[in-house]
Amino acid sequence: MAQFKCIRCGQTAPANDNYVCPCGGLYEVHHDFGDISLDHFDVKLSNIGSTWSSGVWRYKELINPELDPRHIVSRPEGNTNLYKRQKVSEYAGIDGIYMKHEGENPSGSFKDRGMTVGVSVAVERGNRKVACASTGNTSASMAAYAAQAGLEGIVFVPEGMIAYGKLAQALAYGSKVVQVKGNFDDAMGLIRNGAKRLGFYILNSINPWRVEGQKSIVFEMLQQRRWKSPDWIVVPAGNLGNTSAFGKALRELKQLGLIDRMPRIAAIQAEGANPFYKLWHSVDKKLEPMKPETIASAIKIGNPVSWEKALRSIRETDGVVEQVTDNQILDAKAIIDSSGVGCEPASAASLAGARKLRDMGVIAKDDQVVCVLTGNLLKDSETTINYHIKGVSARYSNKPVVVEANLDRIEAVLSQGNDPAPGQEVKNLGD
Ligand code: F0G
Repeated sequence: MAQFKCIRCGQTAPANDNYVCPCGGLYEVHHDFGDISLDHFDVKLSNIGSTWSSGVWRYKELINPELDPRHIVSRPEGNTNLYKRQKVSEYAGIDGIYMKHEGENPSGSFKDRGMTVGVSVAVERGNRKVACASTGNTSASMAAYAAQAGLEGIVFVPEGMIAYGKLAQALAYGSKVVQVKGNFDDAMGLIRNGAKRLGFYILNSINPWRVEGQKSIVFEMLQQRRWKSPDWIVVPAGNLGNTSAFGKALRELKQLGLIDRMPRIAAIQAEGANPFYKLWHSVDKKLEPMKPETIASAIKIGNPVSWEKALRSIRETDGVVEQVTDNQILDAKAIIDSSGVGCEPASAASLAGARKLRDMGVIAKDDQVVCVLTGNLLKDSETTINYHIKGVSARYSNKPVVVEANLDRIEAVLSQGNDPAPGQEVKNLGD
């Protein structure tokens, strides 16, 4: 039977709605796994159209074995592609670099993988009100799943700091949107303090069931690779739910004897929102909250909730934590976008980080590397458009041209041919 176990003091508790142990440590789900074989997951791939074809619920035995399937709320999610593009390999200087595109989930981000599990547990427990704080994607995902399950959804978002695509989703799916005058960390604090008083079930990654669902990114990626571990998994890091989930997934697979080698995790932060990077490079390994600033609004977080779990993931996988500048994020995004794959800004921190780690000699040219693209290109059109139209330091901008409605003029402009192909470096920039 699954239990909650404190990651700080090791105490166990029933898997209910306390997210935090009396000692202050976060809980994680502790399973008693039965016999599990990899064939089992391969067989499920043929269950087209059923709940088990979901890229989350295919691994139910590793995520929430006891959940009554009647309570599952699924779109279904996952089954996202693993892309390889020459241009991306050249940019990173790594031959075997792949992108696992989590922006292909139903609401356009990896959050759906944790949310299907969190909302299904809420339904099983009889919760009617669910809530989260969010930089945008969690709110979009929760709003969608709450709508499907017929639950009341409440989302706290930092006013003016989330991308329009995400705000539009939360509004459209019908959750109550509370725009908090403050940043994500303020909104998160309100959610944690307000859950009992306002009577809602928290669906942030502080909820251990969200983390269970996000483990499936690793399960599915490994299954796509015929269960052969890459050398590295590179992931953008904000609130550190994914970093935590990936380490737990790998630990459990290793304990079950389902993989013989763990990939190393590289968690990549934006330079202006880098408390985990600073922690990793500090002596005492304690988190110092900071005021975050980055163009990648999804990871604009200064006080990440899951830092202790994430620290364990990095340690156990012999991982690293690196930081990249906003310009590096946007340039890497332009490369991913112009390779035809596309992603939202925070996602590109993974490629920017892989390139930096390659330059530093941490990642080798012939390593197998999987970068996780966390969100869809369309989530944050404003940033993309600003990069191409106004981007003063945009190395790969693809400026549109304005031409009179006249074929001669258009032909003249097109024949100038001076514009670089998308993704090619532009020498003279700026408006
Ligand atoms: N990438 C995207 C697109 C995200 O939306 C987030 C987190 C992350 C990366 C960072 O992942 O928190 O697991 O380290 N977004 C949250 C939200 C905080 O509210 O949507 P993490």
